[in-house]
Amino acid sequence: MPAPERIPSRGLTEAGLRTLLAQGELTVLGRVRGASNAVLYCTVAYEGEERPCVYKPVAGEQPLWDFPDGTLAQREVAAYEVSEATGWGLVPPTVLREGPYGPGMCQLWIEADEADAADGSDDGSEAGDPGAHGLPPLLALVEDEKPGEGWKAVCFAEVGEGRTALLVHADDPRLRRLAVLDAVINNGDRKGGHLLPAPGGRLYGIDHGVTFNADDKLRTLLWGWAGEPLTTEAVEVLGLLSAGLEPGTALATRLAELITMAELDALRGRVAVLREAGCHPQPSGEWPAIPWPPV
Ligand SMILES: Nc1ncnc2c1ncn2[C@@H]1O[C@H](COP(=O)(O)OP(=O)(O)O)[C@@H](O)[C@H]1O
Ligand SMILES: [Mg+2]
Repeated sequence: MPAPERIPSRGLTEAGLRTLLAQGELTVLGRVRGASNAVLYCTVAYEGEERPCVYKPVAGEQPLWDFPDGTLAQREVAAYEVSEATGWGLVPPTVLREGPYGPGMCQLWIEADEADAADGSDDGSEAGDPGAHGLPPLLALVEDEKPGEGWKAVCFAEVGEGRTALLVHADDPRLRRLAVLDAVINNGDRKGGHLLPAPGGRLYGIDHGVTFNADDKLRTLLWGWAGEPLTTEAVEVLGLLSAGLEPGTALATRLAELITMAELDALRGRVAVLREAGCHPQPSGEWPAIPWPPV
């Protein structure tokens, strides 16, 4: 299957962006507030090119009970590598590098179209209302029992004053690809704020620190296709991934530097299970596993 055309970031190719991120001079401009880990907003400059980026030093990672300490940056890079192997380009260029606070991950900053991102505010807007940029939002809360045309139901949510509303996400092919990627990388934290629509119609997912656990950790808002058959392109991509993850391939060798052998085996296992089932995974419990807070 031919890879979709990649849109170079203002003149730099994907590989060029990786070089810039890995080798450029990193200048920390500030800290992103409200993040659970240290997330530093920076610029990175290399051979006359400069881009905004995030730098998450390993030293600033919050310990988690279910992940080994100091491994989140590597998981972010592993998620990028797998995304690249799909050809879908869903994760911004991400590298491991040294920085002013020690080793960490460095990722291209995506200037998101805020108006098109998560809209779980229950502000009275109807699902399907276009955002300020003319594109529909990706998430919404609706009063109805069923999602409207073009929407997929996630779950019912308490919205205060004893009221419940239906959480829905757009029936959007970009989100559907992301749902497949999340199932593959076992994403434990796909929330609304991690969906970044970029100018030009691309959609990126960010924040992939809690991924690749060997145990099932899929927690996501993108349950709308649960149990539905995978698209033809997803089946093809899973076939590519299966071959790409064979021992000795460049991808498997790279991933072995970033995650454990048990996690790499579990990754192969998830790809195999998805291919065999031929459909999107379903929540394992009675309720879909939703990240908290969802946005
Ligand atoms: N590559 C990126 N492009 C644009 N914004 C980003 C990027 N990475 C992080 N951010 C912003 O920083 C916030 C915190 O980053 P996140 O990856 O969620 O950190 P944490 O690991 O603490 O959960 C995000 O919600 C988003 O607003
Ligand atoms: Mg986060």
